[in-house]
Amino acid sequence: MLKVLFVCLGNICRSPLAEGIFASLVEQKKLNCKISCDSAGTGDWHIGETADPRMIKTASEHGINLTHKARQIKKSDFHDFDYVLVMDRSVMEDLKKNFIPANPKSSILYMREYDDTKMSMDVPDPWYGGEDGFEVVFQLLDKSVNNFLEFLILKHKIEIC
Ligand code: 4NP
Repeated sequence: MLKVLFVCLGNICRSPLAEGIFASLVEQKKLNCKISCDSAGTGDWHIGETADPRMIKTASEHGINLTHKARQIKKSDFHDFDYVLVMDRSVMEDLKKNFIPANPKSSILYMREYDDTKMSMDVPDPWYGGEDGFEVVFQLLDKSVNNFLEFLILKHKIEIC
């Protein structure tokens, strides 16, 4: 089983959305016996909470049901997961400083490596902004997550279950 972890700051907006989109695609493409996913945050403020209601609403408008409960990243995640996809540069810095162990098994990558525009390495954090920021983040993550899954399928020669 190939394991993928999406990581942001609070684990209530960007990473649960990326996880929800990815899980839905994996299911659609009948790859769920080959690939699994989860999400986590570097912060501990929202542990146990479901995603932000504004993120849940935007996701559901696109047919994606977010059920994840927030959890904090832990060092062992970098031994358990094959890929860790990071939402922005400040989260990456925090991971390097506080969470990534000496010999991680995971490939640790920026989510926006898989965004064709690569305008920035940061998926903007919609939590502080207005309502429309959630749709912007949906569009950005939808493309990046699709591209990332295509990359995985090719690289690991993954076939349907
Ligand atoms: P996320 O957004 O990292 O995309 O889940 C945030 C949610 C909550 C907070 C920060 C970012 N917070 O400071 O509580």
